[in-house]
Amino acid sequence: MEKLKECILDLKKQKNAVILAHYYQAPEIQEIADYVGDSLGLSQKAAQVDAAIILFAGVHFMAETAKILNPNKKVILPDLNAGCSLADSCPPLIFKKFIEAHPNHIVITYINCSAEIKALSHLVCTSSNAEKIVNSVPTNIPIIFAPDKNLGNYINQKTGRKMVLWDGSCVVHEAFSLDKLIALHRLHPDAKIIAHPESETHILETASYIGSTSGMIAYVKTSPFAKFIVATEAGILYKMQQAVPEKILIPAPSQEDNTCACSECGFMKMNTLQKVYDCLQNESPEVTVSIGIREKALIPIERMLELSK
Ligand code: 13P
Ligand code: SF4
Repeated sequence: MEKLKECILDLKKQKNAVILAHYYQAPEIQEIADYVGDSLGLSQKAAQVDAAIILFAGVHFMAETAKILNPNKKVILPDLNAGCSLADSCPPLIFKKFIEAHPNHIVITYINCSAEIKALSHLVCTSSNAEKIVNSVPTNIPIIFAPDKNLGNYINQKTGRKMVLWDGSCVVHEAFSLDKLIALHRLHPDAKIIAHPESETHILETASYIGSTSGMIAYVKTSPFAKFIVATEAGILYKMQQAVPEKILIPAPSQEDNTCACSECGFMKMNTLQKVYDCLQNESPEVTVSIGIREKALIPIERMLELSK
């Protein structure tokens, strides 16, 4: 594995490439990345890249966002099948009809959606800026929020809005079991539960902190507590543990799992070190976005980046 990592680092230099990775990637991929972050951090980084090639170690909608921001750069993804259940839950033609059925609504979409859906949106948001983006819309203007109903519900609660929600969800965050979580908390009553807002309301109600992946890492760093039950994808534990080596991190249990291991995103985990190497070597598979969609999708992404400064 170490040899493969060295080869990737050499190839990266040779090809003037940059590797952007999400926190849910396998540790060995995070280790060879130039930047590891949450969806907002990754799109902010993607907007500043000056390398010729961006290798996105994440899922398809993330690489697509990087391509929309960098039409003249080559954006490559180690496995084109690395999709996302949230993005898949929102097909463009049906979503277009949904928008037409709700005239005069501002359309805010969570970044976990396809370029076609972004092209139908007024604003894009991530889990770290959703509240801010929603609050940027005057309260008398109705909002459609898609595709994540759990994040939408959470933001409705926080802002007092009544956004119309699309019925999408993340398979990984919906897999957390409340019964198992309560049982685990009984075993560790001194632990604080922290959760990603893609989780269902009953899980969020147990949490002392709710936030994006980078928000959760920042929280455990500054919190005076020493033990946390972490309700998000397991990949986060790698960087989180590095940030707080002295603290105890326990993955929240998912339904199908009897061993109490935290949920893993099968899409995120499609990327492997070998695939990263092959992808850099072949400069393929490449992520492309048609000009028509790109021009429309860029507008709500740029609005989000502007509002997040
Ligand atoms: P963040 O890292 O932006 O919190 O998003 C989590 C996620 O599910 C990415 O797919
Ligand atoms: Fe999509 Fe959920 Fe995987 Fe994130 S964790 S990429 S939202 S399926």
